[in-house]
Amino acid sequence: MPQLARRIGRAKPSAIMQVAEKAKRLKAEGRDIVSFSIGVPNFLPAEHVYAAARDALAKDSGQYGSNRGSDALLDAFLAHIHKIGLDGYAKVNVATGIGAKHVIYNLAEALLDEGDTIAFPTPYWTSYLDIAEIVNAKIDLLPCPPSQDYKVTPAQLDAALAKKPKVFLFNNPSNPTGMVYSKDEISALADVVAKYPDTWIITDDIYNRMVFDGVGYHNFVHARPELRDRVIFIDSLSKTYGMPGWRVGFMAGPESVAQAIATMNSNHITNIPEIVTAAAVAALTGPQDVPTQKCAEFQAKRDQVMDVMNSLPGVVCPRPQGAFYVFPDISVAFGKTHAPSGIKVDNDVDFCNALLETKGVACVPGSAFGEPRALRISYTCPTPQLAPGLQRFAEFFNELA
Ligand SMILES: Cc1ncc(COP(=O)(O)O)c(C=O)c1O
Repeated sequence: MPQLARRIGRAKPSAIMQVAEKAKRLKAEGRDIVSFSIGVPNFLPAEHVYAAARDALAKDSGQYGSNRGSDALLDAFLAHIHKIGLDGYAKVNVATGIGAKHVIYNLAEALLDEGDTIAFPTPYWTSYLDIAEIVNAKIDLLPCPPSQDYKVTPAQLDAALAKKPKVFLFNNPSNPTGMVYSKDEISALADVVAKYPDTWIITDDIYNRMVFDGVGYHNFVHARPELRDRVIFIDSLSKTYGMPGWRVGFMAGPESVAQAIATMNSNHITNIPEIVTAAAVAALTGPQDVPTQKCAEFQAKRDQVMDVMNSLPGVVCPRPQGAFYVFPDISVAFGKTHAPSGIKVDNDVDFCNALLETKGVACVPGSAFGEPRALRISYTCPTPQLAPGLQRFAEFFNELA
């Protein structure tokens, strides 16, 4: 029998989806499950987005579209990034994909030859590792423990870039930690980046509209405009506009990179469908009440989660300032037993399994993100479920002995 390509042997199904599937199965069996697992925003797009899609449906020509993205969509994206201080880009600098994940995958193909190094901080979003493995890149992980708020330091970055990786992949605000880099932190990292002209910088900033406490969103290009020759900014409609299944992602960066993405698109997806494009334009150009309201709601939920995490003895939980994740270090629980069930908790996976089995609360083990001392709480569940879910989490934790 013929063999599958070797790259498929390196591809792994998402660990996050596995937890979500188990939670779904238990729910189908009639269990009362609170899901803190999957990173979906859990709200719907505004009505004007649906209206634009319906209108496009009525008028849809059904023809192929532009590989890069329609002019209307590229213009809408350019206007959108202008609002966050990324100006001076033109249509030749931007390109679209079927979600940010697809754009990042395309970038990995476009920037990395087999054996080239990609460096990124850990905890990392799971797909970074999987994509790097599929394209057979060497991976240099920069460990960022809770003692440094899960953030990469200038010294760490300096040491990593001195090894001349082809790509440094950065994520701000972070999935899974929710951490956000301040203006000064970005500026210090940008100074390091400026010293190493041979490395592409991908900055996956899809949560840039979900930043709390007035910290603001900051980018290497804000700090040092000359870096725009090497910095590739990634954005997406998924989280900001409640549109994860509509699959629209973007990049803005050097012309040659945007052209490479358009070329990649021309060889697999061809184009983003017209109806989705119309919805995307409406989301970007229409009223922004939904993302604004959701950001405020997530900030309040972050506070609720942090109150509970701070009450648990020995749990170390840097305070997130963006996205919708909290990433507590729960390693103080390792080696203990959950008294009522007799389940032993030796690691993050045991912790999450026992929590799900005994209390019906689904979280994702930190090892899915390269940090096995922690777990990820995604707090986008309906508001009435949050307090009971957190209470069950705390109960479970306090029953460990
Ligand atoms: C950091 C990060 N980047 C990219 C993505 C993918 O987003 P999209 O739905 O646009 O593919 C996600 C989704 O969870 C994410 O958390």
